[in-house]
Amino acid sequence: MVLDLRKEFFRDTWVEINLDYLYENVTRMKQHLAADTSIIAVVKANAYGHGDLQVAQTALEAGATMLAVAFLDEAVALRKQGLKAPVLVLGATRPEDARIAAELDICLTATSKEWLCEVEHHVTSNSPLSIHVKCDTGMGRIGIRSIEELLEVVEILRDSECFVFNGVFTHYATADELDTQYFKYQLEKFEEMLNSLPVRPPFIHSSNSAASLMHPSSHFNSVRIGIAMYGLTPSLEIKDHLPIPLKQSFSLHCRLVQVKEVEAGEKISYGATYEASDREWIGTLPIGYADGWLRRLQGQEVLIEGRRMPIVGRICMDQCMIRLPHKVEVGTRVTLIGQQLDQSILIDEIAKHLETINYEIPCIISNRVPRVYVRNGKYQSVENNIMSLWK
Ligand SMILES: Cc1ncc(COP(=O)(O)O)c(C=O)c1O
Repeated sequence: MVLDLRKEFFRDTWVEINLDYLYENVTRMKQHLAADTSIIAVVKANAYGHGDLQVAQTALEAGATMLAVAFLDEAVALRKQGLKAPVLVLGATRPEDARIAAELDICLTATSKEWLCEVEHHVTSNSPLSIHVKCDTGMGRIGIRSIEELLEVVEILRDSECFVFNGVFTHYATADELDTQYFKYQLEKFEEMLNSLPVRPPFIHSSNSAASLMHPSSHFNSVRIGIAMYGLTPSLEIKDHLPIPLKQSFSLHCRLVQVKEVEAGEKISYGATYEASDREWIGTLPIGYADGWLRRLQGQEVLIEGRRMPIVGRICMDQCMIRLPHKVEVGTRVTLIGQQLDQSILIDEIAKHLETINYEIPCIISNRVPRVYVRNGKYQSVENNIMSLWK
């Protein structure tokens, strides 16, 4: 079946997620790792804005064996969408919600001894709760900070039939930097904590994408891959040092909805801040800051027929305008993020314009913008919050 996008939604703005690229990124990462190192695919925040179900399925097909999210809600959403693979909640969970996690076979993160003691009142041996213990080795976010507390936690886990001690992990603050001093300090601290354990659980993991790519010494037996799976570099600092190529799977497109010629001196958009300096062709795009195409992107270029052209005037809530070199037909495809012919606008370029990191960009493109999935080179499916109410 070939999907006709114009029948799937009534608005000419959409994100394309190339699942073939995502599959390739996971496969390349798998080849880069030792054969006995497993991949935990990080699909929190709706898979960094890419779509949790589609990304999770593709990552599992490519060889990931576990999924990780930030919150229990996200894990429940994966289960409700039919995913049966192991799921780990990386963030803190309310103790009273642990029962739900146990019932749905969702693994939770133990962040302290107090938390674990509290959770014990909410779970039973009929439906034991799987636990990964988080060690805070220097991120300063969540987790156990001392060997004494770690040993107490492990003792509780081993003595109670309500728990399964399934993993231990930590998270690095500077794995994406070329200066490895603090990274090494954290790694040593984690090794010290591991060496104190009377028994080791099945899963030991510390590496995010950056550490997985740059530091084999930190792989242990599993790694947690987020940003690299989506084909993005963990930081600009290590971009030229990556051992494997990555392919950006996220792109953003729309179609021109109006094209007009304006006279010199005519103004464009709120505040009338842009004034045509000559006779100019102006095109209107159906995307604005409510879609996450933020006002600060004024001046950013977009692609039409492989050529760059600038956004002029203020970006509105739902629309913005671009200056065209000549008349272009209404309905012409415009690429805001992605490739056309030999030109590309990478997420890194948008992040630079917004003075932020690439992680933020796919996350902020709102769910008003439909996600269209490409698999085996073809449009495969569409995820669209608004239209799902219509269908
Ligand atoms: C605890 C934890 N592990 C792994 C990841 C994945 O990191 P990355 O996207 O850099 O691979 C994150 C994401 O921030 C995280 O918070």
